[in-house]
Amino acid sequence: MYSKEGDLILGGMFLVHSEYSSLELTFKNDPRPISCEGFHIRYYRDVLAMVFAIEEINQSQDLLPNLTLGFQIMDSCMSQIKAIGGVLELLSGIRKPIPGYKCHSGSMPAGIIGELMSSISVPMARILGVFHVPQISYGSVLSSLSDKLQFPSFLRTVPSSAFQNMALARLMEHFHWTWIGMIISDDDLGLQGGQDMKRLIEKHGGCVAFTEKVHLSYSRENILRVVHVAQSHAVKVIIVHSPEVHVKTLMDVFSEQNVTELVFVFSASFTLTFGLFNRVTWKLFNGSLGLSPHATKMPDFEEFLAHLNPSRDPNDTFIKLFWEKVFKCKWSKSEDTDTMTPMENMGRFCSENQTLDKKDFHLFELYDLSYTYHTYLAVYVLAHSLDNLMSCKAGQGPFMKGTCADVNNLQPWQVLHYVKNMNVSIGNGDTVSFDVNGDAPLAYDILNVQILNSDDVHLENVGRYDPRDGKGVTVNTNSILWAKFSQVPHSVCSEDCPPGYRKAGREGKPVCCFQCIPCSHGEIKDPDDCIQCPKHQWPNGNHVHCKQKVIEFLSPDEPLGQILIISAALMTLLTASVLCVFIKYRDTPLVKGNNRGLSYLLLLSLMLCFLCPFIFIGQPRKLTCMLRQTVFGVVFSISVSSILAKTIIVVIAFKATNPNSSARKWLGWKTPSFIVFICSTIQVLICVVWLARSPPFPELNIISYKDKIIIECNDGEHLFFYCMLGYMGLLATVSFIVAFLSRNLPGSFNEAKLITFSMLVFVSVWISFIPAYLSTRGKYMVAVEVFAILCSGAGLLGCIFLPKCYIILVRPDRNTRKHLVKKD
Ligand SMILES: *[C@@H]1O[C@H](CO)[C@@H](O)[C@H](O)[C@H]1NC(C)=O
Ligand SMILES: *[C@@H]1O[C@H](CO)[C@@H](O)[C@H](O)[C@H]1NC(C)=O
Ligand SMILES: *[C@@H]1O[C@H](CO)[C@@H](O)[C@H](O)[C@H]1NC(C)=O
Repeated sequence: MYSKEGDLILGGMFLVHSEYSSLELTFKNDPRPISCEGFHIRYYRDVLAMVFAIEEINQSQDLLPNLTLGFQIMDSCMSQIKAIGGVLELLSGIRKPIPGYKCHSGSMPAGIIGELMSSISVPMARILGVFHVPQISYGSVLSSLSDKLQFPSFLRTVPSSAFQNMALARLMEHFHWTWIGMIISDDDLGLQGGQDMKRLIEKHGGCVAFTEKVHLSYSRENILRVVHVAQSHAVKVIIVHSPEVHVKTLMDVFSEQNVTELVFVFSASFTLTFGLFNRVTWKLFNGSLGLSPHATKMPDFEEFLAHLNPSRDPNDTFIKLFWEKVFKCKWSKSEDTDTMTPMENMGRFCSENQTLDKKDFHLFELYDLSYTYHTYLAVYVLAHSLDNLMSCKAGQGPFMKGTCADVNNLQPWQVLHYVKNMNVSIGNGDTVSFDVNGDAPLAYDILNVQILNSDDVHLENVGRYDPRDGKGVTVNTNSILWAKFSQVPHSVCSEDCPPGYRKAGREGKPVCCFQCIPCSHGEIKDPDDCIQCPKHQWPNGNHVHCKQKVIEFLSPDEPLGQILIISAALMTLLTASVLCVFIKYRDTPLVKGNNRGLSYLLLLSLMLCFLCPFIFIGQPRKLTCMLRQTVFGVVFSISVSSILAKTIIVVIAFKATNPNSSARKWLGWKTPSFIVFICSTIQVLICVVWLARSPPFPELNIISYKDKIIIECNDGEHLFFYCMLGYMGLLATVSFIVAFLSRNLPGSFNEAKLITFSMLVFVSVWISFIPAYLSTRGKYMVAVEVFAILCSGAGLLGCIFLPKCYIILVRPDRNTRKHLVKKD
């Protein structure tokens, strides 16, 4: 214990020694006190900050001007038993504490500063809660300490770890680290924080590969196992959420096993103090990141450190340990105290004449003031509360009937009232106030450990997380030194999927370990999943974005369209030439004897048939859609009915060879005209009804093909299309039957054989057209119909007219009446 008298006493419970050795207790003789080990200057620095702050306040004219503050500081040595004993001692005021009794010569502590470790703060807070003594911790971040039912008098100048769990999850997300190891301390802090952090990391899209517990008391085998687990999961990033004392052995084992390709991310409960670790292990810290509650420099603190000397205060037991550590000496027996560890082999004796040198300053690890600064804040908060308490004017006080607290009989709960309602701005601009849970939600600094040469540890402030502004983490990635990696390390379980693939979970594996399976047709890769393109769009080659679908129709610009157009044009020309030939030789027996007028009509209608394809080719529009099938149907009906008329005339002509036959009156131009007129009119009527009831219209078909849009004519009611086609088939069949029956009739020039044959071609073309038409889509469907039109037209032209042309042009000798009659 280190104490100093004053009008008001502040208690302090500090971690100064980082370990203790518990002797086996047999309870056969008086139990010995715990003996502390591992004096660590970095922790001692927190004690110095308290002493420094109290000296500053005592010298200040503004704060508590008529009072001097004293203190009683105890060392917990990481032992809860020792801490509880210390708290009771502070409360009862004597070496052998009597709970509930006050044996103070002066006043009882107005408040207690401490502890650093949550595991020690918790039992302290339970006892102090009973007596309502304000306890202000400078480093305990355990989130359940916010519970004011359990810990009514506990406050802290650091944010609760609930904030840092969020900060770490955000940090992982920032660097796209999704495959993360976690090492937690085997205590409430580690277990609570670990669970919370895991949940938050998973919420932000990451996965925790493993969570391993460590503790000061673990065996080496246990620690080795943890290292193997970390190795086997191949993580590159490990979050360490544990006070540093528990991790010491683990770090040494990592270093011995040469497992160095790692980035450690330390939570705020890990104090970045490297003096605690081996020099060899330092390599492991190089390039790691750490969260630390925001701290700023304390003016004059270094000046204070420079003037440390054991002679300043004979009560100071800690400074003697410090002297031994710095000057590697020991105090002569007479000055030895029981808290000192025996040091046998050190020849030199310590002396008060030695003074601290600039080169010894690195022992203070001043690069990161975090908890030291928060100790300083805690003292100031208590002092300001006491100052407020002092300046209470009688009659306007906060207590019953407006009373104020009596300085000579100060009740701890009265102080607690003032502390809880504290809102103070400390010299350098930081304001501290407690929320309802007694937490001070301050910002975190994100620090990067940079060890450039062996002695020079530098903590670079590379970012910030402030729970109050809701902006998430801000990180300056460029100023981070990754040490073992040349760029931002990559910690994932499965690499991201290439474009066009989506993630698919593996059974029994975390979501970050996935396989990639290709997106199906019509889908593109969203960041994580495959999504369907909009109706009129289709994915590009690698499924990255949707593009407009190709629009398809039978176009005159493409080879298929051009071939059909050229064929149709040639056929039209051919028909026109045949017509010319027939007109030129109109008086020859062959033309004359075969019903000249009907031949002209048939040739004209065939020409129109060959012109039909021109309305089929090109982008369908409202008018062309309406014309397509109807024009085709009417023109072909005229052709076929002309043929029918021709055949019937042949039959009538045969019947009429007998001069008395009544059939003679049917000869002449009226009968064929009537037949053609009636037969075509029926087809015209069908088409008129079709156009009136459900006219064909152009339509975008997005169903038939997934990757293109077809512009086609919707034929409206299909019934009409098949009626039109069926009627044409009926005409053709009737012609065929009549022609077939009359094929052997004698006559001037019997066309019946030619007509039979042409109808056979015609009907077979249209019968084979139907299945071909039904089984194709889009432009090929149109092409099939155009092809059928050209074929059947060519069939008629070829079968009926080409043999005649041959005779007319090549064998005019056979084109005589005598010859024709004789031949048949
Ligand atoms: C402090 O002491 C001085 C002189 O003893 C006295 O005048 C002054 O009122 C005191 N101030 C307070 C706040 O008690
Ligand atoms: C680690 O590396 C050192 C030096 O490179 C070597 O001596 C030692 O055996 C290695 N340890 C292990 C566990 O591989
Ligand atoms: C830390 O990393 C830097 C950069 O890679 C390197 O130069 C330095 O030597 C490392 N320090 C230690 C102690 O290994």
